[in-house]
Amino acid sequence: MNSIPSAGADESDVTITVCPDGPLLVRGAARILDSEGNSIGNDRATVALCRCGRTSIAPFCDSSHKKRRRP
Ligand code: FES
Repeated sequence: MNSIPSAGADESDVTITVCPDGPLLVRGAARILDSEGNSIGNDRATVALCRCGRTSIAPFCDSSHKKRRRP
């Protein structure tokens, strides 16, 4: 996994980890907004945001990225 490096990170920092062929893991006090600027309720310390487009619970990952595509 690749993480955004942070120098002098503290508790208020947000880190985003890119999972190979998977979601973006967002750790920290990040606010997630929909396209209209409305907050998407979330009180978890870590959230997984889908980047494959196959999830049924957008914008969050539901592990659908693990399913194989048919050739
Ligand atoms: S990244 Fe997991 S369902 Fe899309």
